[in-house]
Amino acid sequence: MPLRQSDRQGGAGTNLKLTAYKKFPTNYPHRNTDLWLSGKRIDDNIGPYWRIHNKLYDLTDFADRHPGGKMWIEVTKGTDITEAFESAHISGNAEKLLKKFFVKDISTPRNSPYTFHEDGFYKTFKRKVNLI
Ligand code: HEM
Repeated sequence: MPLRQSDRQGGAGTNLKLTAYKKFPTNYPHRNTDLWLSGKRIDDNIGPYWRIHNKLYDLTDFADRHPGGKMWIEVTKGTDITEAFESAHISGNAEKLLKKFFVKDISTPRNSPYTFHEDGFYKTFKRKVNLI
């Protein structure tokens, strides 16, 4: 059965208003992680890269060396990993390392409501944790 736009945005049966971003990826109703990620890959549309904020990275050679395990990097190829990246690393080491893998800037808006502004809650929280 073809998806209605309302199903894609808020899940079947909800009354959520359409928002500027898709709450679930294109094939969200198929509930398993591989399909969720392949739907996200279609929606994020960044080719063979990884997106963090408004930059694309090639993490191919980094996957085996990732201290958090190669699985995270491998399964997220072709997607926007901003939320995962920001929430899994507190110290700032990951951000420094990231520069080595920069490929190019990207101007299409991220499909997410989270901004991670320098003076926003999340970045401020991380800075305070690092001072402890
Ligand atoms: C899908 C994206 C990613 C996820 C889910 C992820 C997840 C994780 C996890 C779970 C850890 C272990 C944290 C701990 O044991 O305290 C870790 C550590 C680490 N990751 Fe990632 N990671 C991702 C992407 C990256 C990227 C792109 C880089 C840099 C190029 C990176 C660099 C590091 C570093 C340096 C550490 C060691 C801990 C630290 O210094 O913060 N990670 N990651």
